[in-house]
Amino acid sequence: MSESVNRQWLLVNRPVGLPQASDFEYREVDIPEPGEGEVLLQILYALMDPAQRGWMDAGGNYWDPSPLGEPMRSGILAQVVKSNSDQHPVGQFVMGVGGWQDFVVVPEGTVDPIAYDESQDLRAFSHALGSKGATAYFGLFDVCSLKDGEQVLVSSAAGAVGSLVVQLAKIKGCRVVGIAGGPEKCAWVIDELGADAVIDYRAHDDMTAAIAEHFPSGLDVYFDNVGGEILEAAMDNLGIGARIAICGMISGYNESAIPGPKNMWNLLVKRARIEGFLVADYGPRYHEAQAEIGEWIDQGKIKYKIDERKGFDILPETINCLFEGNHDGRLMVKLRDDDNGPA
Ligand SMILES: NC(=O)c1ccc[n+]([C@@H]2O[C@H](COP(=O)([O-])OP(=O)(O)OC[C@H]3O[C@@H](n4cnc5c(N)ncnc54)[C@H](OP(=O)(O)O)[C@@H]3O)[C@@H](O)[C@H]2O)c1
Repeated sequence: MSESVNRQWLLVNRPVGLPQASDFEYREVDIPEPGEGEVLLQILYALMDPAQRGWMDAGGNYWDPSPLGEPMRSGILAQVVKSNSDQHPVGQFVMGVGGWQDFVVVPEGTVDPIAYDESQDLRAFSHALGSKGATAYFGLFDVCSLKDGEQVLVSSAAGAVGSLVVQLAKIKGCRVVGIAGGPEKCAWVIDELGADAVIDYRAHDDMTAAIAEHFPSGLDVYFDNVGGEILEAAMDNLGIGARIAICGMISGYNESAIPGPKNMWNLLVKRARIEGFLVADYGPRYHEAQAEIGEWIDQGKIKYKIDERKGFDILPETINCLFEGNHDGRLMVKLRDDDNGPA
C-alpha cells in the first residue's frame, strides 16, 4: 500500500434528471485506521449500477439514500490491506458495498470474500459469477418459473443482466427474443449470445407491433429490465399463463415518478402473473447460481462482457453511460489509472 491519501467523490446534491458534475465534489482525506473487528479495504474497482441513481434521491429505493457529503455509495471489488479480523486476512479479495473512494473501513462480515485465484478474472465476480448472474438466474428460474422450450422476451438484452438472461434461457432450450438499442448491440445479442431474434427499440416507433411479429401466439416469459413503454408493449403480447419478472425500470430512473402500464387488464385476460424481485433477497442462495453459471462458463456456454474504464477522475461522468447506453458490457471503473493489480 503506497498511497498516502484517500481520494473521494462525495455526493453533494440530489440530482434532478441525469446526474451532473455539480452533484459531486472531490476531496482528499487521510486513510482511515481499522478498529477492533474491522478491516481496511483498498477499493480496486467501483461498480456502476443503475440502482445507484435511486440511492442519489432523497427517497432512496430499496435502500436508504446515499447521504449527502459522504462518498457516493457504490458496489466494490476490493482487497484487504489492514485487518483486525480473523475472517478477513490481509490480501483477501472481497466484494460488497463501499463508495467512490480509494479506501474504506468496514466491520468484519459485512463484505463477502471472493474465492479467487490468479487464473481467474476477478471482475467476473461482479458480473456472471456475482450479483448480475444471480439476478438473471433467480429472476428467470425462480420468479418466472421458466420451463424448457418456452418463448422468452428480454429487454436490455445486451446489458449485464439481460445478456445473461438470454444465454440462460437458450441453455434451457427456449426461443429467445432480445430487445436492445442500436445495430452493434443487436448484432452481439444474435451472433454472440445466441438469441433467436432481436428488436432494436431505437428503430421502432411501435414496439407492440414489433414484438407481435415475433410472438404471434403470445409470449410465455418477459424479463423486464426497463419498464415504461416497452413493458406496456410486452403486456400487449402475453400468452395464456405468461409470467413477467420486474427486474428493473431503468427507463424511468431519471424521472420524478415511474409510470405504470395502462394495460393491466391483459393480466386478467391472459391469466398472467407479474412480480418484482430483488436479488439481495437471494443472498443465502447465491452459491447455487455461482456454481451452475461457473460450470456453464467453463463449458463455453456463457459469455460475459466487461466495460472497464480507468481513472478516479471519471467516476461521476461514467454513471450516466448506463442511462444513455454508452457502454458495452458490465460497467466498472478501475480506480488506479494503471495496469497494476488483478485483471
Ligand atoms: N432486481 C434486482 O435485484 C436487480 C439487480 C441488478 C439490476 N437490476 C436492474 O436490471 C436492469 C439492468 O441492469 P444492468 O446492471 O444489467 O444494466 P445494463 O443493462 O448493463 O445497462 C443499462 C442498459 O439499459 C438500457 N436502457 C437505458 N435506458 C433505457 C430506456 N429508456 N429504454 C430502454 N432501454 C434503456 C440501455 O441498453 P441499450 O444500450 O440496449 O439501449 C443500457 O445499456 C436495471 O433496470 C437495473 O436496475 C435489478
